[in-house]
Amino acid sequence: MANDFINIGVIGLGRMGQVHAHGFHKMPLVNLKAVADVNPGLLAETSEKFGAKGYADYNEILEDPSINAVSICLPDNMHKDCILRATQAGKHVLCEKPLVNNLADALEIEKKLRGYDKVFMVAYCLRYDLQRAALRERLLAGDFGEVIHIYSRRNSPIVGPRHYAGYSDLADHVMIHDIDYINWLLRSKPRKVYAKSRSVLLKDKNMTDAIFALLTYPSGELVCLESCWVLPDLTPMALDDRLELIGTKGSAYLECSEAAVMFVSNRDAEKPVRYGGDFNATEATGMVYEELNEFVRCVAAGKTSGVTIREAVEDIEVVEAICLSAKEGREIEL
Ligand SMILES: NC(=O)c1ccc[n+]([C@@H]2O[C@H](COP(=O)([O-])OP(=O)(O)OC[C@H]3O[C@@H](n4cnc5c(N)ncnc54)[C@H](O)[C@@H]3O)[C@@H](O)[C@H]2O)c1
Repeated sequence: MANDFINIGVIGLGRMGQVHAHGFHKMPLVNLKAVADVNPGLLAETSEKFGAKGYADYNEILEDPSINAVSICLPDNMHKDCILRATQAGKHVLCEKPLVNNLADALEIEKKLRGYDKVFMVAYCLRYDLQRAALRERLLAGDFGEVIHIYSRRNSPIVGPRHYAGYSDLADHVMIHDIDYINWLLRSKPRKVYAKSRSVLLKDKNMTDAIFALLTYPSGELVCLESCWVLPDLTPMALDDRLELIGTKGSAYLECSEAAVMFVSNRDAEKPVRYGGDFNATEATGMVYEELNEFVRCVAAGKTSGVTIREAVEDIEVVEAICLSAKEGREIEL
């Protein structure tokens, strides 16, 4: 397989589908063979731009035996059906986060995919951000000692909930990024979850404006998550995200909108990685490009993805606990 083309189809050509198509189109081992979307204008434009065959019905991609991998970039509530069909067709599958948006469906997929011998990967791009990867390496090397607490913020302009109204909400669409990254960092899901949320600007849409969640991990580490997606339209950055980790021997500060990371110990304070990246994958750099590359490497080498389906299911378990805690005003045990 190592020298063969991976023939791939991208399903769903909205914001993330464009990023995936760009990224795969640039990779030497990969042939972006097909794209699918129900929007005829978007389909024609994307298919022409990348010289890929265009389909209105994604099932035609799944029926093509020459296509061995697909990337699913459909709205969150359409992932389940497409995952089940794609895996039934025996494709290697990369699916945008979240796996699905409820735990029952996540568990059903996990059960159906037990023993699946192709690559199945959920696209959690934060794991492929160089700053965050550097932070995790240092944590695993013991540089910060025991983790006392972590704070992680992910705030963005109100354009998001306008776009995703009706099929996603803040916890499963946005906060899940931090849940996945921190579970990965601490190599565990939390034991307890307490959360508060508010709906003000999005109340009429039955959606959540902001959430604060306090998670307790098995060794006692405290994690405070903040997400809000109703910042004014004129907010100058697409994302206001920040992470602080405080340990017994040192601390780490990620100022993501400024692409800066700082590690502090009792000896010094250093800023070792300055890396802006390119979320749009147009320059073959950045965390999404790294993530697509990891999928391709797994397919080419016949190895399983680092993002396991169990982890993706646990992320959704945490999302549901956060929503339940916010609704019932009590701490939830997992
Ligand atoms: N990794 C990240 O940071 C990140 C950022 C944004 C979105 N996402 C995820 O990516 C996925 C897609 O989000 P998006 O922002 O690109 O959404 P989007 O609404 O921009 O794109 C979805 C596309 O799917 C198409 N579509 C709908 N039904 C279809 C069908 N039956 N067959 C084919 N195409 C169909 C729509 O026409 C649209 O073009 C979501 O799961 C979302 O959570 C991830």
